[in-house]
Amino acid sequence: MLLTQTHSVAATEAAGEAFARSVQPGWVIGLSGDLGAGKTAFVRGFARGLGCPGRVHSPTFALLNEYTGGRLRLFHLDLYRLNSADDVRGAGLEEYLTQPDGVSIVEWIERWCGDAPATEGSEPGTRRRIYLRCLDENTRQIAYDCAGA
Ligand SMILES: Nc1ncnc2c1ncn2[C@@H]1O[C@H](COP(=O)(O)OP(=O)(O)O)[C@@H](O)[C@H]1O
Ligand SMILES: [Mg+2]
Repeated sequence: MLLTQTHSVAATEAAGEAFARSVQPGWVIGLSGDLGAGKTAFVRGFARGLGCPGRVHSPTFALLNEYTGGRLRLFHLDLYRLNSADDVRGAGLEEYLTQPDGVSIVEWIERWCGDAPATEGSEPGTRRRIYLRCLDENTRQIAYDCAGA
């Protein structure tokens, strides 16, 4: 686990932006962390790092937002409103969680795969998992799980 702390929204966005530089086609990046942990902030920076123009907003109701115009096509998913992997399949989202035609970044990934790395149906080495945690009002811990890398 690679741990870092941020002390502002901008710093969490910058972490997402930096992470985007290493991203390869077909990756699925799972984000875990409570409401307000900074997942969407991380995605905002991530989209910027890919060079996607346009404002990132949470896809909690849409479930999926797609951003084009960057280095890779970006799928931003938020599974908060789904309860299980079956729900995720029922919503037609499975391909975005296994073999995206671009890169997927997924809030509430545990709705899909719990704590497991979720390699089923996906190419080896394409899963990443990031845990965000609120330490105090303005401080967030970001933990990059390198397993599966
Ligand atoms: N260091 C920080 N990193 C990210 N967000 C922070 C930080 N400090 C305070 N915040 C606040 O926490 C909230 C994070 O919201 P958001 O990114 O939508 O979280 P999530 O998507 O995990 O629910 C925002 O209101 C933001 O202003
Ligand atoms: Mg969010």
